[in-house]
Amino acid sequence: MKNLLSIEELTAAQMQELLALGHRLKAERGHHAEQPLAGQTWALIFSKSSTRTRVSFEVGISELGGRPMFLSTRDIQLGRGEPIKDTARVLGRMIHGAVIRTFDQQDVVDFAAYSGIPTINALTDLEHPCQIMADLLTIEEQYGVGSWKDMKIAFLGDVDNNMGRSWMWAAKHLGFTLALAGPQQAMPSAATLAALDCPNIICTTDAAEAVRDCMVINTDTWISMGQEAEKGTKEQAFFPYQVNRELLSVAAPGHVVMHCLPAYRGYEITDEVLEGNAATIFREAENRLHAQKAILYTLAQH
Ligand code: CP
Ligand code: NVA
Repeated sequence: MKNLLSIEELTAAQMQELLALGHRLKAERGHHAEQPLAGQTWALIFSKSSTRTRVSFEVGISELGGRPMFLSTRDIQLGRGEPIKDTARVLGRMIHGAVIRTFDQQDVVDFAAYSGIPTINALTDLEHPCQIMADLLTIEEQYGVGSWKDMKIAFLGDVDNNMGRSWMWAAKHLGFTLALAGPQQAMPSAATLAALDCPNIICTTDAAEAVRDCMVINTDTWISMGQEAEKGTKEQAFFPYQVNRELLSVAAPGHVVMHCLPAYRGYEITDEVLEGNAATIFREAENRLHAQKAILYTLAQH
């Protein structure tokens, strides 16, 4: 594995290896001697805001012996129009790896191609692969490793956003049932579903149908970064997909609710449900660190 640009391009075996390593690195945190990034500098090139991704990568790179360098596109020439392919060829001669948060997936693909150094997608408009690896790690901790085929997971709200798409590819690779519920306007396109060709992905506009008997219920903001102008027109259609106590009454006994954060209480999730599932949701946030250390470790071996 040279880069991590999407869940789409991973195999089930690669995902399972990353998860196994994530569990090991979590268990060994603070007392493992391996420093696979020793002597290396990894740049974090971010065009969008971040709390979890930035901090977990900076800490993870340091814990693996490397040096993180945060580069906001507000400060570097990329933000003033220098092409990504030129930025990539400059940085590729100086640093050892890159973690990129941006809008267009093509930018991370181009950076990887032109820089020649390991490149990680830290969220684009297309996918959020690092978050999904942390979410899968969290679910394995909750329900045990290797239980994917029997698992029913729901994702509610803006189901064709970066999180929804990464969930869809994870369902394709690991074989769990994924029920997506949102307004018709938010449904994945026929082309997306054809590309996935995955009978275990269910799309419905009925939130209760999606949540029925689910062990894991996920949601995310209805307004992703870069979509702020759509807030007024978009929100109203999404309220039937709010994760609240009434909706969860049809979920499987012992279910958990997950959220990648940041959460907008009173919109995609109620305060009551978020606080009731805080142990899972904040462990999910912590697992960004462990899952990403597994990704960094694996890319450093290439
Ligand atoms: N979940 C997530 O990616 O959080 P940040 O935007 O804070 O990095
Ligand atoms: N879908 C959200 C995820 C934030 C972590 C966004 O892109 O803003």
